[in-house]
Amino acid sequence: MRLAKYLARSGVDSRRRAEEMIAEGRVCINGIIIGKPQTLVQDNDLVTVDGKPVEGFEQKTYLLLHKPAGYISTVRDTHNRPTVMDLVKGEEKRLYPVGRLDADTSGVLLMTNDGELSHRLTHPSFEVEKKYLARVSGIPGEKALNNMRRGVLIEGHKTASAKVELAGNFEKENESLLEITLIEGKKRQVKKMCEAINHPVVNLHRQEFAGLKAESVREGTYRHLTSREIKALYRLVKL
Ligand code: URA
Repeated sequence: MRLAKYLARSGVDSRRRAEEMIAEGRVCINGIIIGKPQTLVQDNDLVTVDGKPVEGFEQKTYLLLHKPAGYISTVRDTHNRPTVMDLVKGEEKRLYPVGRLDADTSGVLLMTNDGELSHRLTHPSFEVEKKYLARVSGIPGEKALNNMRRGVLIEGHKTASAKVELAGNFEKENESLLEITLIEGKKRQVKKMCEAINHPVVNLHRQEFAGLKAESVREGTYRHLTSREIKALYRLVKL
C-alpha cells in the first residue's frame, strides 16, 4: 500500500496531511526518510512519524471454513479440545469465528479479524440468513412445521418466523430432513426449535451463512473470500 494511504488508514491524519508530513521529511520506513507519498509499504516495514512508530492498521482477512463436527468454535478451550483455530493454523493473522456453531454441528463458519463486519453479521437487527439442514427424529406433519414457521417458544421468547421445509425422510430409521432458514441466531436455536415440536435433532449442518455456501469448500478446509463476496457482505449489513 502507498505510504500516504497507509498513514491515513492507520489514523495518523488525513491523506493530504500525510502527504505534507512526508514532504516535510518527517516520515521514515525502516529508518530511512521517505520523500514520495507513493512509496509502497510492505507487510513487515516499520513506519515512523517524527521517530514514533505508527501502529499499522491491520490488513483484514476473511475465511470461509467448512467446519467438521468435533471442533468447538472458540479461540481457546480450557479443556484442550480441538477448536476451529486448529483448522486455520496456517493463517498469520489473529482471526476469530463470526458467531458460533455447536461442537457437533458441521458447515459454514466465517472467520475474520474484521470486528465491525463480524458484529453486524451476528447482530439480530441485520437479519442475516442462516440455512440449516437438520436430520430430526420422527417425521413432522404440516401442523408441526407450521408451528416452527410461525415461531415457537424457547425459554419464554417466541422465535422469529422461519422458512421450514421437509426435504426428505428416512422411514426405516424414522427420521427426516428439514431445511430451516433463520434470521436470528440464538444459542442452540435450531435444536431448541426442533425440540419444541418434539422432533429432536439427530444431526445438524449449516449449509449457508449470508449467502455463502459450505459446499464451496471441502469439509475440514477453508478458503479466502473473494473481493466480490466481501463487498456483498458489506452491502448486506450496510457498511
Ligand atoms: N442452532 C443449533 O442448535 N446449533 C448450532 O450449532 C447452530 C444453530
